[in-house]
Amino acid sequence: MIINGPNLNLLGRRENEIYGDTSFQDYFMKLQLKYKDLELAYFQSNVEGELINKIQEVGYDFDGIILNAAAYTHTSVAIGDAVKAVSAPVIEVHISNTFSREDFRHTSFISPNAKGVIIGFGLQSYELALQSF
Ligand code: DQA
Repeated sequence: MIINGPNLNLLGRRENEIYGDTSFQDYFMKLQLKYKDLELAYFQSNVEGELINKIQEVGYDFDGIILNAAAYTHTSVAIGDAVKAVSAPVIEVHISNTFSREDFRHTSFISPNAKGVIIGFGLQSYELALQSF
């Protein structure tokens, strides 16, 4: 299960110099074509509680979660707790290299509870996470 947080619905239209010019829908379709034998699912929300509900909903049944909590990464104790609570392994991903950006992006409430972290490879971060599963 791939879960994307706030503003990632704008990929392709948002700060293209940082996030590229591909929409996540297009990228997800390509992933599905390339990994035909895997059952991939995608969810995006701009709402913190909806992200937590989705993590809880799939987090005891799915084989793994690839989570880009976007800005909530740096603020949400609640999403960090949800990641800790579920039994499915969660891989934290980021498109941009958050450590080469503003200081507030250097903190993550997800990382301590994640199986691993993949940061800064553009949309390829998601595929690298998938391969790690
Ligand atoms: C992001 C990095 C976050 O700091 C930012 O708030 C995002 C996207 C990334 O994928 O690079 O929205 O998670």
